[in-house]
Amino acid sequence: MEINNTFISTKTQISINNYLENSTNKENINEILKGLFAEHKYISSKYFYDKAGSKLFEEITHLPEYYPTRTEKAILRNFAPQIAKTLENVDIIELGSGDCSKISILLEAVPPENLGSIRYIPVDVSHSAILKSSKMLIEKFPAITINGLVADFLNHLNIIPNDANRLFCFFGSTLGNFTRKQSIQFLLDLKKCMRHGDQLLLGLDMVKDTAVVENAYNDKQGITAAFNKNIVNVINRIAHTDLEAESFEHMAFYNGCECRIEMHLKALKKIEVYCPDSDKNIIFKKGETIHTENSHKYTERYILNFAALSGLTINNIYSDANKWFSVVHFIY
Ligand code: SAH
Ligand code: AVI
Repeated sequence: MEINNTFISTKTQISINNYLENSTNKENINEILKGLFAEHKYISSKYFYDKAGSKLFEEITHLPEYYPTRTEKAILRNFAPQIAKTLENVDIIELGSGDCSKISILLEAVPPENLGSIRYIPVDVSHSAILKSSKMLIEKFPAITINGLVADFLNHLNIIPNDANRLFCFFGSTLGNFTRKQSIQFLLDLKKCMRHGDQLLLGLDMVKDTAVVENAYNDKQGITAAFNKNIVNVINRIAHTDLEAESFEHMAFYNGCECRIEMHLKALKKIEVYCPDSDKNIIFKKGETIHTENSHKYTERYILNFAALSGLTINNIYSDANKWFSVVHFIY
């Protein structure tokens, strides 16, 4: 259900529809508590992205150790002219749009006379990210129309407009934050809402030297640690608890069997806090962890498998010289 419709300005073509405002806090509380009372504690990584978390993620993307963003951007710069040729009278839907800096690379390659026929639809759980980035994007490309959707892309694909040809973009290897099962289901769901002529650009971080990957999630400045610990503040706000972020240590390591980085928060001491919503205490033994994120890495075999299982056709796979990152161009 659509909840509110924020028209930022009538002069510029930006609107934001919020589909999450009314998703009862109760649903979030239940989801978070289910994870915190589980035998092996966990929380969905979508809770990273409150205002502070979105800002920390943006800082991560500029870190020297965090290669995915700059590598994917370089790939996009190289093939943008090819894709941009197809961008006329089209809706560009970016799932998990964040700071929108990647779409900006594609739009730079579009002939100026075609920009007015493009509607950009960023979809993100973070209202602040959509608002901030839409304002920046419209400054740079005043001819486009922006219709932001504050929504959960795992549950709300059905709200995406389908009255034009569409280019779906899912950059940053955000698919890697899903479990393998979830990622297949997500591609099947996405394919269901696509029509013939629609396209998908999917950014995927590839398997590589373990040290390179582990460094990317254990940066020297401790920004990733701050990003990980910020989820404790989100838990406190939603579940009315009083956990201290500094009672936890950031942990990120490569799980070679699953080809993924796992991020956890490890309790530095025994912790016991009252949880008013369950009328019980949440207890951490010293050394116990909350699993906060998976970040799966891929090989060409996975990519071919995605195509086979989803029924989407691979038009091209664009990579950097090291094959550290791939952007897969699927067509329906
Ligand atoms: N695509 C950008 C941002 C990646 S960070 C880039 O490549 O740099 C992941 C983004 O997905 C964040 O902006 C976060 O708010 C959003 N996100 C995470 N889980 C989401 C969900 N379930 N539904 C919608 N957006 C989500
Ligand atoms: C958004 N996502 C793909 C990032 C990743 O690499 O898994 C989030 C992130 N977590 C730690 N650093 C960056």
